[in-house]
Amino acid sequence: MAFPQERPRRLRASPALRNLVRETVLRPDDLVMPFFVRPGRGVKRPIKSMPGQFQFSVDELLKAAGTAVAAGIPAVILFGIPDKKDSQASGAFARDGVVQRAARALKGRFPDLVVIADLCFCEYTSHGHCGVARPDGSVDNDATLELAARTAVSQAEAGCDVVAPSGMMDGQVAAIRKALDGAGREQTLILAYAVKYASAFYGPFREAAESPPKSGDRSAYQMDPANSREALREAALDVAEGADMLMVKPALPYLDVLAAVRRSCLVPVAAYCVSGEYAMLKAAAAQGWLDEKKATLEALGSIKRAGADFILTYHALEAARWLA
Ligand code: PBG
Repeated sequence: MAFPQERPRRLRASPALRNLVRETVLRPDDLVMPFFVRPGRGVKRPIKSMPGQFQFSVDELLKAAGTAVAAGIPAVILFGIPDKKDSQASGAFARDGVVQRAARALKGRFPDLVVIADLCFCEYTSHGHCGVARPDGSVDNDATLELAARTAVSQAEAGCDVVAPSGMMDGQVAAIRKALDGAGREQTLILAYAVKYASAFYGPFREAAESPPKSGDRSAYQMDPANSREALREAALDVAEGADMLMVKPALPYLDVLAAVRRSCLVPVAAYCVSGEYAMLKAAAAQGWLDEKKATLEALGSIKRAGADFILTYHALEAARWLA
């Protein structure tokens, strides 16, 4: 041991010292609240595997979003559950689609709220895959790009500030940027789900969004959890194609990947703390096995420490209140 003796504990001796030297601070401004929207009026349907989360009709969504805004949350991300699904995912780009109607209502009521639209097709296709399916069940990459371009323009025209393509199709960011610019939507941002793993932690979401694939899985387009070098390749491609921001998803099992992506590029990097991560914390807290507030703030803080500029989390509202 060196002399004079090294004593890092001196820096931890009082709350004031700890506050002074803290390296990472989580703020409500770092949080994005996800919402599930469905048709109807007065609908607030609990999601069993995600205690405290609901499917909302647009009128109920406005109330919930008002609560989030009041808690200081700057942004929401919308997932749509349409009345009807078909093989062409037409609900995804319909002018009066559920996300389009929700975005119009939200921007009308809360003009300063950043509205992000998830841009994917699994909730809208009868087969539940994230794109156009071929007869053999595989997903046709380039046919899906046309749908993505159309959907992005439709979401932008409904008032979405940000579109967030999550289908993991090659070339989706370039196709969307070209379509947005062509439609005079140069100001619409793209938050690319650049690094999205084929993860078991999406289980509860698939109940919430009624979107599990009817057959097969998503391993032919989402990433293999074993890979991290490939994440840097995906991130670099999306930046080159014009992404304004990148996302890594899920968050906690992939903090190493998040840190590497953060170091590899200059654009803001988000992390999505997904449904299964939320469900684990809620389940343990419900048993009295974890202190939910402390464990959640520690988990979200660790995601920020690993390099996230902001975090999508179902805990956004509770965390913003805990942090107030
Ligand atoms: C749609 C999509 C998924 C999630 C976000 N967008 C599910 C999936 O890929 O099956 C998961 C979010 C969560 O688990 O919270 N492609």
